[in-house]
Amino acid sequence: MSSMFGLISRVRTSLNPPEAKPLPDSKPLKFGVLGAAAIAPMAFIAPVKSHPEAVVYAVAARSKERAAAFAKTHGIEKVFGGSNSYQELLDDPEIDAIYNPLPNGLHFEWTMKALAAGKHVLLEKPSANTAEETRKMFELAENKGLVLLEAFHYRFHPLAHRVKAIVESGELGAVKSTSTSLSIPRGIMKADDIRFNYSLGGGALMDMGCYTINAMRYFAGADPTAVLSAEHELVSPQIDRKTVATFSLPGSITSTILCDLSVPPMLKLIPALPIMNAVIQCEKGEIKVMNYIAPTLYHSITVTTTANKKSRVEKAYTFPDLGEPWWTTYRYQLEAFVNKVKGRTPHAWVTKEDSIKNMEAIESVYAKSGLGSRPKSEYVPS
Ligand SMILES: *[C@@H]1O[C@H](CO)[C@@H](O)[C@H](O)[C@H]1NC(C)=O
Repeated sequence: MSSMFGLISRVRTSLNPPEAKPLPDSKPLKFGVLGAAAIAPMAFIAPVKSHPEAVVYAVAARSKERAAAFAKTHGIEKVFGGSNSYQELLDDPEIDAIYNPLPNGLHFEWTMKALAAGKHVLLEKPSANTAEETRKMFELAENKGLVLLEAFHYRFHPLAHRVKAIVESGELGAVKSTSTSLSIPRGIMKADDIRFNYSLGGGALMDMGCYTINAMRYFAGADPTAVLSAEHELVSPQIDRKTVATFSLPGSITSTILCDLSVPPMLKLIPALPIMNAVIQCEKGEIKVMNYIAPTLYHSITVTTTANKKSRVEKAYTFPDLGEPWWTTYRYQLEAFVNKVKGRTPHAWVTKEDSIKNMEAIESVYAKSGLGSRPKSEYVPS
């Protein structure tokens, strides 16, 4: 009963978090949002509301009406609309940091422009269409002394940390294999979704696969040395709706990833359920993680030792010294981002090297299957 009450209360509060009052001795970071993306309210606007040192100050969208409607819905002070609106927002001296949830194919151009304008950037994943672009963005951020973060939000939640700690404790011995999945049922993504558009950087591997690859690398604690297999189900010649790939990693680890933007119903009738699981097989047992992507709703970590077949179940909604049970992955991520910008040590981070390696792994799968990397940006930094 109490866990059911906990679930309902956690979900309700995470969707509609309490508004934080500004701190008397700290100027809040003023954020500008590029585009009126559907992901923004959950991934960014709600977390900002409950953060005492952040405010969403401005939004820009090509359509003036869309920008104005978005601003009104979310109580955003300043609106930029029209064909030059993104640049106008970047040029606003009031703004400290940019949230960039634009389609993947526009990540490079608008992150480079935001950094050139002197703004910190919270960038949606995958960071770009190619690892080379990712490297260039981070180099510019370093040169300008600005914070750039690829928004792998799950990495900031205590669940991911607890799983990693169990792996690193040595309790189960060395990692032998990992399997990380992320798939959602048919019907959530429409056929004309930007995720199915090659020139915008679409494909299941880019969108959901970037998580499965990141989680594989994080939990295994290593980067792949080879792609052993790469299979897709395609919706068009270069766009994968589903990808299954296997990798070899140092230490004789074999890892499988599975991502699917649109799982067909079972027996053509029963809708599939979202799958967001990770399994880490070790020498002396395994860790099964249910829902590593949105753990605030519900999750479990089941640790089983092979010798005595004993299992235990763990949960991790907060750190000992940080967070609330209703904090989403995005809220934990924002905490780290603000701390980093303010010169404090964040509780977790995704580094430049991490982001580059992730993009390299994505490209290596597309290279193996012959689908090829998503197109390079035509933007040439001035
Ligand atoms: C992909 O997006 C571009 C840019 O918005 C658009 O011009 C193109 O028609 C789209 N392609 C498909 C297949 O939808």
